[in-house]
Amino acid sequence: MVQVTGSKWTGATLMLFIGMSIPCQAQDNPCGEHGQCKTDLDYQVGNVFGCFFYNLIFFGGTCNNEPPSTCECVCLNGFKTDAGGICVDIDECTQGIPSGFGFNIAVCTGFNCVNSIGSYRCGGDLDECSLGTDNCAENATCTNTVGSFTCSCLPGFTGDGTVCNDIDECSLGTDNCAENASCTNTVGSFSCTCFPNYNGDGTTCDPDECSLGTDNCAENATCTDTVGSFSCSCLAGFTGDGTKCNDVDECTLGTDNCE
Ligand SMILES: *[C@@H]1O[C@H](CO)[C@@H](O)[C@H](O)[C@H]1NC(C)=O
Ligand SMILES: *[C@@H]1O[C@H](CO)[C@@H](O)[C@H](O)[C@H]1NC(C)=O
Ligand SMILES: *[C@@H]1O[C@H](CO)[C@@H](O)[C@H](O)[C@H]1NC(C)=O
Repeated sequence: MVQVTGSKWTGATLMLFIGMSIPCQAQDNPCGEHGQCKTDLDYQVGNVFGCFFYNLIFFGGTCNNEPPSTCECVCLNGFKTDAGGICVDIDECTQGIPSGFGFNIAVCTGFNCVNSIGSYRCGGDLDECSLGTDNCAENATCTNTVGSFTCSCLPGFTGDGTVCNDIDECSLGTDNCAENASCTNTVGSFSCTCFPNYNGDGTTCDPDECSLGTDNCAENATCTDTVGSFSCSCLAGFTGDGTKCNDVDECTLGTDNCE
């Protein structure tokens, strides 16, 4: 409810001077220019005739039919009453339009919205992704579409795009770690590490037969690991193919350097 204040006196005085031909001016619209008192007609009619007859008899008097002292404002479309009860513009872009059921309906969803006094206008597509007004998960990609946007989880995550949970590739067995490697799950990915005595990047792990002791080199031979295999070569002073190494008898061979 707004308090009614008016220009009864002005109107009445004016009418007196102009010769009582125009009716007493209705009170200033207490609802502002975008609304009307619910009781508007009531009090205006009363006021007009009241003023007219009163002023006809008593110059410059007050209306004998007092208008209501408060009025409930009924706002035009696109306006609503503010805290003081006066009709003000609704910013439909930020507030939506009143549904009449106590909640507001959003307008221009997914599109630009421009508010104007008493109305609004929807413009071009809004890029929610670059505006950051999307609700995609942290580990999702946002794709703008006309009027909306879509979210999809990044590789290594699963979900609807607004919620993206880490995929445990190791326990699902969707990793590509080598047979002789351990798999470690990480958020969004996984890592592979070759077992001890296996060499490689984790996706391929070459066994080091020498360290594993699975070579067949002779006792007096050195073992050298190679990719996919190993090689054996007899120590100095021994002869053979590496899997068998016999002592070289330098004395008989005369290869010694004894005097
Ligand atoms: C998103 O992924 C990163 C690593 O890629 C991780 O640190 C972060 O915790 C993830 N966020 C959520 C909400 O899962
Ligand atoms: C993994 O290690 C085992 C035991 O050393 C071996 O038998 C197997 O061939 C290895 N697998 C590969 C792919 O190297
Ligand atoms: C290896 O060499 C040592 C001496 O260096 C010798 O005692 C041993 O018998 C050799 N082993 C074989 C299998 O020839």
